[in-house]
Amino acid sequence: MESIDWSNLSFGYMPTDYNVRCTYKDGKWGDITVTSSQTFEIHMAATCLHYGQEAFEGMKAFRGKDGKIRIFRMDENAARLQSSCRGIMMPELPTEKFNEAILTVVKKNERFVPPYESGASLYIRPLLIGTSAQVGVKPAKEYLFIVFVSPVGPYFKEGFKPTPMVILRQYDRAAPLGTGRYKVGGNYAASLVSGEKAHAMGYSAVLYLDAKEKKYIDECGPANFFGIRGNSYITPKSTSILPSITNKSLMQLAEDMGMTVEVRQVPEEELATFDEAGACGTAAVISPIARIDDLDENKSYVFSKDGKPGPICEKLYHKLRAIQYGDEPDTHHWVTIV
Ligand code: COI
Repeated sequence: MESIDWSNLSFGYMPTDYNVRCTYKDGKWGDITVTSSQTFEIHMAATCLHYGQEAFEGMKAFRGKDGKIRIFRMDENAARLQSSCRGIMMPELPTEKFNEAILTVVKKNERFVPPYESGASLYIRPLLIGTSAQVGVKPAKEYLFIVFVSPVGPYFKEGFKPTPMVILRQYDRAAPLGTGRYKVGGNYAASLVSGEKAHAMGYSAVLYLDAKEKKYIDECGPANFFGIRGNSYITPKSTSILPSITNKSLMQLAEDMGMTVEVRQVPEEELATFDEAGACGTAAVISPIARIDDLDENKSYVFSKDGKPGPICEKLYHKLRAIQYGDEPDTHHWVTIV
């Protein structure tokens, strides 16, 4: 086997042995198949290519100290994909089919699940696309579901270290009643220009404001935003934010720790009152925020002066990771052992 430097993985694509697929045709889903091909043929008029009929998911598998592989909150990802399907008129993939595909692809690529000590994980990327030809703006009749995996390290190269983020008022990610709440490729395409601009200026991500009033905190790059004030975990409520499964889990853990959880509109000015802030998601886990600059308004909100994550971010991060790696009991039944 080729040698993989498990402890120094970045968040990138690495070929693995197998991926799994399932097609939808004549109104029904077929059987799951396993392949080692990394490509497929597609009709040039497929709806995913023209009209963005595409949704995806992000999940992770972890190898514990006991050698067992754990998948985090698989049913939640199945449900979110179904919600994305409803959002862009694709047939919903049944949860049992989704779970079978995930378990198959992880088992088949077991040798790519990083060792416990590395702190890395196996990223699982399910995607669903419209494949049949259409020129009118209409949903496809045929679909392809694929799941591939790749061993990954931290999404932000700094890992669990605070990084600066930026508000760029000339860009929106998603409209209030648009597709922001669904995990569809178009939302990520819409974030590329602002994201690259932020990176070029030395920021790790863009903190979007709501597109209508430019007043409230919305999505945070490819992740959700949360702030900590005293004993409260505060995260924005918005129709254009992706319902992050990591955020949902952190809210539960915060509650377990005796914190108050607030899900509501968060005006930008409130940033000045937060002791800590972070971005959270499957890929990002918790990425603590050092500072947020609102360049057009000439404002800066600082959360970390010493370059270290705050104590609540630390506690939540370690608690979440402990459950994911099986170091602590899975009291909420979030983990599926492969
Ligand atoms: C995830 O957190 O899994 C995501 O899908 C975000 C990003 C890598 C697109």
